[in-house]
This record gives sequence, structure tokens and C-alpha cells, in this order.
Amino acid sequence: MIKILFVCLGNICRSPLAEGIFNKLLNEKELQLKISSDSAGTGNYHIGDKPDKRSIKVAKQNGIELTHKGRQIGLADFQNFDYILAMDNDNFKNIKALEKKARDLDQTIKAKIYLTREFDNLYDDEVDDSENETAWDVADPYHGTEEDFQECYDTLERCCTEFLKYLIKAHKL
Ligand code: 4NP
Repeated sequence: MIKILFVCLGNICRSPLAEGIFNKLLNEKELQLKISSDSAGTGNYHIGDKPDKRSIKVAKQNGIELTHKGRQIGLADFQNFDYILAMDNDNFKNIKALEKKARDLDQTIKAKIYLTREFDNLYDDEVDDSENETAWDVADPYHGTEEDFQECYDTLERCCTEFLKYLIKAHKL
């Protein structure tokens, strides 16, 4: 089983939505016995919480039920997951710092860590993002509007679709 972990800050807006979209794609491709996905937050504010109502709504509009309960990423996740996808640069840095802790404790590290939008086919490779380390962020919609959640959904759908294509090719599925 190839295991994917989507990670944001609170684990109530972006990453549970990514998990729901990705699981829908896995079902459509009948790959749910070969690949699985989960989500977590770098923060501990929403442990045990349901996803944000606006994530639940935009998911439902697209035929997806979000059943995830908030949890915080931990050291064992680097051993248990094959891929960890960070929603933004802050999350990425925090995940890398936690990975270093796991390495310092001589834990086996299995997970490859990426920024989610590395798999966004709308992202223009020509953009010079060397001056802007947030250029690859899936924007945090928490303080935003329902439109921001729709935009978040659209971005995650593109990224999940391309990421799954990548996995199918890389693992010859
Ligand atoms: P998420 O959004 O990281 O996409 O789940 C947030 C949710 C909650 C908070 C921040 C971001 N918060 O500060 O409580």
C-alpha cells in the first residue's frame, strides 16, 4: 500500500479537502487497494475536530463526504507514510524540522516530502519564484470567503489529479 499524507496547519480546511478529493480519484481509478490517503495538521488547535463547514460544503457540492477528524502530524508519520504533501511553505518548513527530529532520533524515514503545488499543472515553470517562497502555496482559506474555498478546491483537484498520474507512472500501477 502506498500511503499519502496531506498536511496543512489546522487540518480542518485544506488537507482534509485534499484527502477527500484524492480518495474520490482513487475510487474512480479503482486504486483504493493500492494507494491510501490521510491528512494531518502541523498545529494542535483542532485535534478531534470535524473539517470546517465551508470545506464540508464545497466537498459535498462535488459528491465528496468529509469524515476526517483533526489530528497533528507526529514523528511516526515519517515512517508510516510514503509521501507527505505540504499545503504551503510554512507547513513544509515545519514538516522538515520535524523530520530532522525523527532523523536525530535514528528513526527510519520513508516519506518523501513535497509541496502540493509542485503537482499543479497550472503553475507556470517560467515564473521566477526565487524571491517569493510563498509562490507555491495553496492559500489558507480559513479567514476567507466561500469563493476562497472554491478556489482552494479547484487548486487541490488539479494537484491531486496530477499527483495521482505521477504515482501511477512512478509505481507502474
Ligand atoms: P487549514 O486552515 O490549515 O487549511 O486547516 C486553518 C484552520 C485553522 C487555523 C489556521 C488555518 N487556526 O488558526 O485555527
